[in-house]
Amino acid sequence: MAEEEQHREHNHQHSPGMHPSFLRVLEQKKRVKQKLSGIKHKIGVYSAKGGVGKTTVAINLAYALHKKGFKVGLLDADIDCPNVTMFLGIEDRKMEPVLPLKPIVYEDVKVASTAMLVDEMKRPIIWRGPIVTKMLGDFFENTEWGELDYLIADISPGTSDGPLTIMQVLDLDGFIIVTNPERVAGINSMRSGLMAKRLGVAVLGVVENMSSGKPSKTTEETVKTLGTELLGTVERRKEFAELTDKGKIHVAEDAGAQKEFNAIIDKLAKHP
Ligand SMILES: Nc1ncnc2c1ncn2[C@@H]1O[C@H](COP(=O)(O)OP(=O)(O)O)[C@@H](O)[C@H]1O
Ligand SMILES: [Mg+2]
Repeated sequence: MAEEEQHREHNHQHSPGMHPSFLRVLEQKKRVKQKLSGIKHKIGVYSAKGGVGKTTVAINLAYALHKKGFKVGLLDADIDCPNVTMFLGIEDRKMEPVLPLKPIVYEDVKVASTAMLVDEMKRPIIWRGPIVTKMLGDFFENTEWGELDYLIADISPGTSDGPLTIMQVLDLDGFIIVTNPERVAGINSMRSGLMAKRLGVAVLGVVENMSSGKPSKTTEETVKTLGTELLGTVERRKEFAELTDKGKIHVAEDAGAQKEFNAIIDKLAKHP
């Protein structure tokens, strides 16, 4: 039977009236789920606000989990500004452009990023929505992670195509929402969490980054609005940016950061 006919039949039998493009998303979701079936927990690190520390939190969470003995993968799903390889100081590492794509192993964590598929780091990625959706979907479907305890995904900011595709196609356990003490971060983080909930993706908790140690009123409001819990705070440290520029992982260098991320992991582990 021709593929198109199969789609039509499927559509007719299971979902009368469903738009074919939505059906395509559902079918891709099934294939991605199958591809990632060897992974026990899949967690997205997200906020609609840029610059709050999504990449910082995703990387440190991944390496803190690894340090606790878990098998971990780190997926850079920020298609516009894929910064994970830069933060890790492995910008020159590329994935073999053959399918299935194999993540690079760095310090015992498997890392995959679309930055590993382009030749030049600073080349801007300027794609319209349908291309973003297609590229991300194909990237998820074609990356071979094998068996993992955790996959941590760094998500792009905003509430449109990038995060939307991830919410639709990647079968996540849920999101950790990153915010900072400022009201502008809190409000935009609320937006992201509410979007996730609306699309049926769980909010596992909130992390206040660049914190004074005590969550701000806005962070408390964010937690309440999202009906979730504060997983922890990560202090603002001037050494963080310096370490990042040197490609160093904070939890490996800073005992305070390690303690904070371990506390976040302990709270996360209480989720079913
Ligand atoms: N806890 C922190 N203390 C100090 N600087 C931080 C902290 N977390 C992140 N940064 C810095 O803030 C900037 C934005 O962080 P990044 O992780 O890139 O955010 P996002 O991924 O949300 O855009 C980076 O320069 C990073 O080094
Ligand atoms: Mg980032």
